[in-house]
Amino acid sequence: MKTFTLPGTDMTVPNVVLGLMRIQEMSDDAVRTLVHTAREAGITFLDHADVYGSDSHGCERRFAQAMKLSASERERYVIQTKAGIVKDGPYFDFSYEHIVESVNGSLEALDTDYLDILLLHRPDALVEPEEVARAFDDLSAAGKVRAFGVSNQTPRQLDLLRKYVTQPIVANQLQLSITHAPMIAQGVAANMQGLDQSVVRDDGIVDYCRLHDITVQAWSPFQAGFFDGPFLGSPRHPELNAVIDRLSDKYGVPAEAIAVAWITRHPARMQVVLGTTTPERVAAAALGSDLPLTRPEWYELFRAAGYTVP
Ligand SMILES: NC(=O)c1ccc[n+]([C@@H]2O[C@H](COP(=O)([O-])OP(=O)(O)OC[C@H]3O[C@@H](n4cnc5c(N)ncnc54)[C@H](OP(=O)(O)O)[C@@H]3O)[C@@H](O)[C@H]2O)c1
Repeated sequence: MKTFTLPGTDMTVPNVVLGLMRIQEMSDDAVRTLVHTAREAGITFLDHADVYGSDSHGCERRFAQAMKLSASERERYVIQTKAGIVKDGPYFDFSYEHIVESVNGSLEALDTDYLDILLLHRPDALVEPEEVARAFDDLSAAGKVRAFGVSNQTPRQLDLLRKYVTQPIVANQLQLSITHAPMIAQGVAANMQGLDQSVVRDDGIVDYCRLHDITVQAWSPFQAGFFDGPFLGSPRHPELNAVIDRLSDKYGVPAEAIAVAWITRHPARMQVVLGTTTPERVAAAALGSDLPLTRPEWYELFRAAGYTVP
C-alpha cells in the first residue's frame, strides 16, 4: 500500500481509504471482517459522516459497536468524518452550532475522544465563514479535531473559507471514477464549442487543489454515475470493460484494481474512497494502490469511458 504524509498534517496516510457509508445493516462480525481485511491490505484510513446510516450517526455507531476499539487500537486508524448535511429537509448547515453539535455527536457515536479529520460535507449556500473559523478554532483547541477539510467544494468556495479559517484545509472529497470524471475531462478538451465535456462545472478544482496542497479524495470510484450502479461488468460499458479486462490480465490483478489505479496514477496524489462492503473487493481494490498504468493505458481507459481526446 502506497502511503504519504498528508500535506498540512503529520499523518501518514494510505492512498486507498475505506468508506463506511453502507455498513448500517451489517452484523458485528461482518463489520469487523471488512475493517480487518482493509487493515491487512494497509487501509488504515476510515471515512464516515454523521448522516451515513438510517438514523443520525447510524454508521458511526454501528462501526464503534462492532469494533470496540481500545485506546491503542484507535490510534492505529485515521478516522475522518463529516458534518454539514441536515437529512431532514434536506438542507446544508455550516453554522457554529451545527458543526460543533455534529462533532460532539460523532465523538459519542464513534466512542472516541478525537477525530483525525473533519470535512464539511456539501457547500452551504448560507455559509458565514467567520462562524466556520470559530467552530474550527474551538474544536481544535478542545483537542476534538486534529485537521479540517471539505467535500464537494469549488475553488472560490475554498478561497472564501481559507480567508477566515486559520488551519490548513487538507482535503476536498469529490466524486471521481473513470466514467464520472468531469473535473479531469474538462481540462483535456478546454474551449471546444459544442462539446459538453468542455463545459466548466467546477472552476478547475483539481488544479486548484494541487496548487494549494489540498488532497483530492475520490468518492464513488466504482459508480458509473451518481449512485446508479458500478461500471465494472456493466453491459452499459462494454468497450471500457474490455480494456479493463485486458489490463487486468496484463498486470495479474482483479478489475477493481485497474479502476483504482486509474485514479492513483494521477499525479495529484489522490486518495480513493472505497464504498464496497465486500471484503474480497476491498482486497482486490487495494492492489490498485501502487499500480503504475502507463500514459497510453491511462488515456485508453479515459477514451473507452467515452471521453474525447481532441
Ligand atoms: N463526500 C461525499 O459527498 C460522498 C458521497 C458518497 C460517498 N462518499 C464516500 O465514498 C465512499 C464510497 O462511495 P460509494 O459506496 O458510492 O462508492 P463505490 O465504491 O463506487 O461503490 C460501492 C458500491 O458498489 C457496489 N459494487 C458492485 N460491484 C462492485 C465491484 N465490482 N467493486 C466495487 N463495488 C461494487 C458495492 O456493493 P457491495 O457492497 O455489495 O460490494 C457498493 O454498493 C462511501 O462509503 C463514503 O465514505 C462520500
